[in-house]
Amino acid sequence: MTKIAPSILSADFSKLGQEIKDVEQGGADYIHVDVMDGNFVPNITIGPLIVQAIKPITRLPLDVHLMIENPDNYIQAFAEAGASIITVHQEATKHLHRTIQLIKSQNVKAGVVINPATPAYMIKEILPEVDLVLLMTVNPGFGGQSFISSVVPKIKQIAKWRGELGLSFEIEIDGGVNKETASTCVEAGADVLVAGSAVYNKSDRKQAIEAIREASRQ
Ligand code: DX5
Ligand code: ZN
Repeated sequence: MTKIAPSILSADFSKLGQEIKDVEQGGADYIHVDVMDGNFVPNITIGPLIVQAIKPITRLPLDVHLMIENPDNYIQAFAEAGASIITVHQEATKHLHRTIQLIKSQNVKAGVVINPATPAYMIKEILPEVDLVLLMTVNPGFGGQSFISSVVPKIKQIAKWRGELGLSFEIEIDGGVNKETASTCVEAGADVLVAGSAVYNKSDRKQAIEAIREASRQ
C-alpha cells in the first residue's frame, strides 16, 4: 500500500502537536519535516529544536528533508533530535557518498533527493547506499505549488534501476501531490507520497489522506 507522508510545512504551527496527532490518527505513515535554510532554498523553516519537540508526541517515523547547504554540519543534531530518516539534496553536497555514510553512522535511515531539473544519473552511483530516493516534483521552498509532470519519466527511470540493480530503497515523491496527481506517481513506481497542502488545507485530514491513498490505487 502507498505510504502517505503529510508535510507539516502546511500545518498550523501555533498548534503543531495537535496537527501531528491529527494526521497520525488519520492514517499517515511518516511525518515529513521540511528543513529550509534561506540559502539553498528561498525560505527558512524548522531546525533540530522543533524535531526534538515533536519526537515524543508521535510514534510515526520523522522523515526529515534537509533543504540546506552543508548538510554535514547538521546531520548529528537532527539525528540526536529524533529524525528517523534524513534526506539530503545531491545539489547541496560536495561529497554525497561521505554525507550518506555520515547519516548511516548516526543509525538513521539515509535518503538522497534531487530537484526537478537534476537528471536521474546524478544519483545512480549512490543508489546501493541509500534507504530512500526522494524526487522533487516542485522546485523546493514552498508548499502549495503545482506538480511538475515532466519529472514522471525520472520516477520510472529510478524504479527501473532499482529493479535492475536488485535494490530495495523506497521512492518518495514531494511537491504538488494530491488526489489528481497521486496515481501518476504510483504507476511510475512511487512508494511514498508527501502531501502538504492536500492534507493540511483540508479540515478533515483523515478523509484527505484516504482520498490520496484511494486515488493512488487507481
Ligand atoms: C517543498 C517541500 C514539500 C512541501 C510540499 O519545498 O519539500 O515537502 O511541503 O507541499 P505540497 O504538498 O503542498 O506541494
Ligand atoms: Zn519536502
